[in-house]
Amino acid sequence: MSREPSEDTAPAVVTVTGAAGNIGYAALFRIASGAMLGPRRRIALRLLEIPAAVRAAEGVAMELADSAFELLDSVEVHDDPAKAFDGASFALLIGAKPRTQGMERADLLQANSGIFGPQGRALNEGAAEDVRVVVVGNPANTNALIALSHAPDIPPERFTALTRLDHNRALAQLAAKAAVPLAEVSRVSIWGNHSSTQYPDIFHARAGWLTGEQLAADRAWLAEEFVPAVAKRGAAIIDARGVSSAGSAASAAIDHLRDWALGRDFALSQSPTGSALSQSPTGWGDDWTSVALPSPGAYGVPEGLVSSFPARSVAGEWLIVEGLSINEFSRARIDASVAELVAERDAVRALGLV
Ligand code: NAD
Ligand code: LMR
Repeated sequence: MSREPSEDTAPAVVTVTGAAGNIGYAALFRIASGAMLGPRRRIALRLLEIPAAVRAAEGVAMELADSAFELLDSVEVHDDPAKAFDGASFALLIGAKPRTQGMERADLLQANSGIFGPQGRALNEGAAEDVRVVVVGNPANTNALIALSHAPDIPPERFTALTRLDHNRALAQLAAKAAVPLAEVSRVSIWGNHSSTQYPDIFHARAGWLTGEQLAADRAWLAEEFVPAVAKRGAAIIDARGVSSAGSAASAAIDHLRDWALGRDFALSQSPTGSALSQSPTGWGDDWTSVALPSPGAYGVPEGLVSSFPARSVAGEWLIVEGLSINEFSRARIDASVAELVAERDAVRALGLV
């Protein structure tokens, strides 16, 4: 890493890959408006695209200029990762190769390693010392593993993958089931891979006056409705829209980076119901969110796998929530999703990609 930590007074360099794509388009205007870093932090946007989409990204840059965002210091468009990540404090790795017909998972992993390997190297060479990376492009967890493997000078925990969308989906499903406002749902956890094997765990949750145990007492609903509804929501959106989720994915990536960098207090201060929520020194109270990060070996997840955990950001670092009891129902599902991550890691290892 070549740069000093960025100062609050300097614009934060925010690099968005796949900037001309659907999620990029949905994220950039909100980032520039202050939704991610607050109403006082100026932002220097770097848009990274493949050469064929640079013209489209330039069109997005024109629209960003036309929006006259007061916080927006500059917008640059690049097709060279080294230039796009130079000095970056925030990196949203959204651009990825989609799976095409007849493609095996190993082919998909190999195709994406051609993106996330070089991007990891470019981050290593040029990103700011305080860089925070969230991988959105699928397969997000293993793409994050590939990127961090190519960035030996950046602490691995600076690389995360997005499961906040799954977390938000679970909150919404639970609020609907319990017929309570969203703000009254807490302590939901997403475990494992951002794929259909993920496990949304409600055993520690609260929804209004109901405890997770009470909600989970209806095991048929839990196993046959709730878990698949959350885990397969991405496919349901693709089925309905014809393309994958974009607005909600962008929103979740912004939630993820905002909470990580600014902490929960900031999010609460911006929330219509935040002031009514119980406060605590960390701002989280007894709540948490979900983040895929390199496992320190917690909860039986092999060390180094980028797997989703319940976590809180405290002083700019994600801390996994410790000491949650895991019952048999949860254990089997966490293990199944972790087994998929192990298989993905072994596939990229066999290809010499990590
Ligand atoms: P999209 O096809 O609309 O846009 C992807 C963009 O990435 C394209 O503009 C493409 O040119 C660009 N791109 C490809 N390779 C690149 C590279 N090497 N460098 C820079 N840009 C590159 O797709 P989208 O809807 O924006 O989705 C992007 C990714 O996010 C997909 O992999 C999708 O499956 C994934 N996704 C993840 C989540 C999540 O929660 N983790 C949710 C939704 C979608
Ligand atoms: C989502 O969760 O909406 C996406 O990851 C689905 C996909 O395959 O793009």
